[in-house]
Amino acid sequence: MKKLLLTLVLLCVTGLLLGGLTLLYHLPLDTRDRSPQQPLPFSHLQHAGDLQIDCRFCHRHAETGPVAGVPDLDLCLSCHRHIATDKPTIQQLAGYWDRQEPVPWVRLHQLPDHVYFPHHLHLRAQVECSYCHGQVENMAQMQRIASLKMGWCLNCHRQNQASIDCWACHM
Ligand code: HEC
Ligand code: HEC
Ligand code: HEC
Ligand code: HEC
Ligand code: HEC
Repeated sequence: MKKLLLTLVLLCVTGLLLGGLTLLYHLPLDTRDRSPQQPLPFSHLQHAGDLQIDCRFCHRHAETGPVAGVPDLDLCLSCHRHIATDKPTIQQLAGYWDRQEPVPWVRLHQLPDHVYFPHHLHLRAQVECSYCHGQVENMAQMQRIASLKMGWCLNCHRQNQASIDCWACHM
């Protein structure tokens, strides 16, 4: 009788422990901000929002090729040789230019190497940047709004009669 009771108690405790662990694993308890720390505080809110610079002015390859591209320092300095040159952040920007170093921006959207994602084909099909990237013009710091998981791609492809052939995305 005592043995049975002990076994039952043990079972209950193990059950509770496992339950608790599963819960911990699935609950979104980790609320740390995952936006990367960028080398410079570049703000889309300021440039694309307040100043209304077009996305394609800076990400100029999005329309013509698979990779949207982050602008060269050259483009930034076309304004910042004259604008806000007294600000420490802009002097830091000019420092990269003087040393002929690219700004080491941290990438937030990055698919694994085995996936092919063509920006230009999506833009040609009239998909807006905001569908996949959110309201970037309101972001002081870049955030990722979509999972970029295979299911996310496939859902939209099914809805739009785009290809769901494995070889379309995995070449
Ligand atoms: C003045 C130039 C400029 C304009 C205008 C601009 N961007 Fe950017 N964008 C950048 C720079 C620089 C970065 C890299 C730094 C960062 O992530 O904040 C970047 C990063 C991004 C990224 C993240 C890349 C990654 O994975 O890390 C996305 C997405 C993006 N921009 C979308 C947009 C969209 C959409 C618009 C228009 C609403 C826009 N950008 C307007 C300069 C610009
Ligand atoms: C079309 C002109 C233009 C271009 C191109 C441009 N900027 Fe700016 N940027 C501005 C203006 C205007 C401000 C606001 C200046 C102010 O508040 O005095 C600004 C502000 C900034 C600031 C904040 C300065 C501060 O500390 O207050 C940073 C950092 C910056 N830009 C970085 C960049 C980078 C990096 C690029 C290239 C990817 C870029 N800018 C391209 C016009 C531009
Ligand atoms: C259908 C979804 C979708 C649309 C629409 C889209 N993007 Fe992207 N974007 C992505 C994905 C997915 C990645 C990651 C690509 C990779 O890692 O190969 C990405 C990456 C980026 C990057 C960083 C890497 C790179 O390609 O240079 C920038 C910048 C960017 N997008 C800007 C834009 C801009 C600007 C627009 C609108 C003109 C736009 N995107 C439209 C899905 C989209
Ligand atoms: C907003 C919905 C949407 C999302 C999200 C989306 N796509 Fe697409 N995709 C489209 C549309 C629409 C087309 C164009 C179909 C056409 O032109 O026939 C397309 C075309 C493509 C093509 C070219 C297919 C071909 O026939 O050659 C590839 C590759 C592709 N997408 C990959 C991806 C990947 C990878 C992702 C996820 C990271 C993704 N797409 C997310 C809507 C989407
Ligand atoms: C519309 C684009 C698209 C199509 C079509 C597609 N995939 Fe994927 N696939 C992705 C993306 C994006 C990822 C990477 C993100 C992820 O792991 O979910 C991925 C990842 C994978 C992975 C790796 C998963 C992992 O955990 O690393 C496998 C395996 C895979 N796909 C197999 C397939 C097979 C088999 C098909 C055809 C039935 C297919 N995919 C069709 C976009 C696509």
